[in-house]
Amino acid sequence: MHEPRKLYVKSFGCQMNVYDSHRMADTLAREGFVETQDPAQADLVILNTCHIREKAAEKVYSELGRLRKAKQEAGSDTMIAVAGCVAQAEGAEIMRRAPVVDLVVGPQSYHRLPELLAQARAGKRVVDTEFPVEDKFDHLPAPSRAATRARGPAAFVTVQEGCDKFCTFCVVPYTRGAEVSRPVAKILDEATRLVDQGVREITLIGQNVNAFHGEGPDGQDWSLARLMQRLAQVNGLARLRYTTSHPRDMGDDLIAAHRDLPQLMPYLHLPVQSGSDRILAAMNRRHRREDFFAIIERMRAARPDMALSSDFIVGFPGETDADFEDTLELVRRTGFASAYSFKYSPRPGTPAAEHDDQVPEAVKTERLAELQRLLEASKAAFDASCRGRTFDILLEKPGRQVGQLIGRSPYLQSVVVNDPPAAIGDLLTVTITDVGPNSLAGVPVASDPASPARSRPLAAMEA
Ligand code: 5AD
Ligand code: SF4
Repeated sequence: MHEPRKLYVKSFGCQMNVYDSHRMADTLAREGFVETQDPAQADLVILNTCHIREKAAEKVYSELGRLRKAKQEAGSDTMIAVAGCVAQAEGAEIMRRAPVVDLVVGPQSYHRLPELLAQARAGKRVVDTEFPVEDKFDHLPAPSRAATRARGPAAFVTVQEGCDKFCTFCVVPYTRGAEVSRPVAKILDEATRLVDQGVREITLIGQNVNAFHGEGPDGQDWSLARLMQRLAQVNGLARLRYTTSHPRDMGDDLIAAHRDLPQLMPYLHLPVQSGSDRILAAMNRRHRREDFFAIIERMRAARPDMALSSDFIVGFPGETDADFEDTLELVRRTGFASAYSFKYSPRPGTPAAEHDDQVPEAVKTERLAELQRLLEASKAAFDASCRGRTFDILLEKPGRQVGQLIGRSPYLQSVVVNDPPAAIGDLLTVTITDVGPNSLAGVPVASDPASPARSRPLAAMEA
């Protein structure tokens, strides 16, 4: 008997790539590949890449440089594949720049991996960046129970891909294509299966997830809110989240879902990018700062314990000190539990890259540092406000010390608990006793015998 072939997948960028990496691993598991965490052991390395900013895209080439060196030194014949958004955007160019690459595969072609690999193994240098007519999800196998278990009790499910918004800075509409929603029945099947395998929390993902309009079993288009109402009925599914949203698509029913569905976590990632109306217009965001404030107000009215996170870009072409000040003011006024912030990075083929009023690098650096200081302070204030609060955490993994487990709060904070009377996959009610820079500490609240449903036997995660 020969050894199973080993697969190493490295994901860059967003959660969509994490999900896609899992799907690729599930597809290749059928071909006899087992996953390894060590690229030196791998017969096949897949880099699942991100093209959103120049820095992210350049990481691929440094990783490929490292792989080439390691491969030469070991004299191995490891195959190397580049997947994801750099693959989609650059295609054959990747092979010209990095001859070590055997296969380039875009996000819409992952179901074809076995066939593409066979071609590459036969000595062909393969590039597939088509947008095929068939639905790749129909051809991507579901994970095995063992794979789901290894990935833990919180899972992602893609419900929507692509984007039609065309923000002037963004490559997504080009790399991921037009917006497409998956049918409700398929999402339900996938979610139910994951829950049967022990998953307790599902994050619905999509580049524009709240624009979801998948076909329902009744033949009508269902909104994200309606989809979540249905998912909330899945027995054993304790928590729901969704990301990433656009302010334009925060419909009334979605806001109401936060009021009505206890499974829906009171935490919203809502990228605003800038606090200046002038810049928002130049970005083609198609909303104003007041619209953002109005959404937040309605959200907080629906769910008073709602917390927010967001994305920001500094140094968009033409951004003045006054525009940047508007962004700082928006942050102060809103208060964010967490946030991502970036220097504007001109992307090939996007309208903003052509503007001739680009902001100097030094100004971008300064603004980013100032914004990040403010966002850090906002996060620290939010974390501090959690001290003394009691909420459920979903236990996800062991902690550093014996007996410790780490769970996630409703706000995705890591919470460390010593010797909890519970196991991975359980929800546990804790009171927050300490707040550190990277995690919180919690102690279990004496369990309420009236609610045995809280903790489920581990069996579901174990078999
Ligand atoms: N430059 C900098 N940041 C960008 N983002 C998207 N495109 C760019 C770009 N060209 C950021 C946005 C988006 C997040 C995923 O990445 O803030 O919400
Ligand atoms: Fe990019 Fe804008 Fe679409 Fe988000 S909404 S993926 S930022 S084009």
